[in-house]
Amino acid sequence: MQQEAAALLHWYDANARQMPWRSPPNSAQRPDPYRIWLSEVMLQQTTVATVRDYFNRFTTRWPTVSALAMAKDADVIAEWAGLGYYARARNLLKCARAVHNLGGFPDSCEQLLTLPGIGPYTAAAVASIAFNQPATVVDGNVERVMARLFNIHTPLPAAKPELTALAATLTPQSRPGDYAQAVMDLGATICTPRNPACGICPLRPFCAAQAQGTQTALPFKTPKPEKPTRQGTLWLARHPNGDWLVEQRPAKGLLGGTIGFPGNGWDSKSHHTAAPVIANWQECGEIKHTFTHFHAVLRVLAGTTSAQPDHGMFQPVNPDNLPTLMRKAYDLASPALLPR
Ligand code: ADE
Repeated sequence: MQQEAAALLHWYDANARQMPWRSPPNSAQRPDPYRIWLSEVMLQQTTVATVRDYFNRFTTRWPTVSALAMAKDADVIAEWAGLGYYARARNLLKCARAVHNLGGFPDSCEQLLTLPGIGPYTAAAVASIAFNQPATVVDGNVERVMARLFNIHTPLPAAKPELTALAATLTPQSRPGDYAQAVMDLGATICTPRNPACGICPLRPFCAAQAQGTQTALPFKTPKPEKPTRQGTLWLARHPNGDWLVEQRPAKGLLGGTIGFPGNGWDSKSHHTAAPVIANWQECGEIKHTFTHFHAVLRVLAGTTSAQPDHGMFQPVNPDNLPTLMRKAYDLASPALLPR
């Protein structure tokens, strides 16, 4: 084994973070592929701290991949609410159904890659962590660790193939699952973007950036183009019985398949040119939300009405099941619309 991998595994044995889906280092028992896959899909969205709660709710409600395969689409989208990228939630279900039909998760990267919603990152993570295959996992943490270890000055994202190839040269045949998690833990706790803790880093003797003093500047990144801002409106209408006027968004596209309030101006599907019902509209202020490709700044109007909508429907709303943008509007409008 390379000295780097040996040093990292030695460090991981003493310093592995505990996570609800993880087996401890050197464990004889392999972790459940369902739990590894689910956690890795969630971890592409957000931090370990946030994923814990979502993961625990999902696995309590759907303890196996077959249980998830039987779930209703709307229930899964509702549990996913707040994680963003709702196409991932739909692919999660498609993948669960495919795996259920196969009778279980395949154990190789090649076969995992054929499943819906599984790309190179998730395939390598599941193959290595769940099945102990020597696949190389490359996320943002691993890119940073490799850029520093090898002192690579090519900016991201152009550097990605080079960093992936370098990462592959270090992946050991022995304990590749622990190794994959060790590199990610190192990136998350020691080789951090700012102020890396080089003094306690197990890879310090091998680190070219540390030798040159370039570690805090790496990895270089090509600046992303600035996001445009879209202005728009959301109308939150409440029936005196407590129900809200909502629309089910189309399955494809932004916030696909989620429940939301009617609006205009902020995406191609929010087409209302005027308020969707007659109500005693009042201004509640503005919400801001950032999507992958734009910022949205939306005026929020709230009103009570028993008028018949010509679009959407009145129904009860659980704010915990709203996507974050809609939750912000709900939080702003609901004090004005408490049911009498
Ligand atoms: N980030 C994403 N997946 C991870 C994992 N399995 N271990 C540590 N950090 C991670």
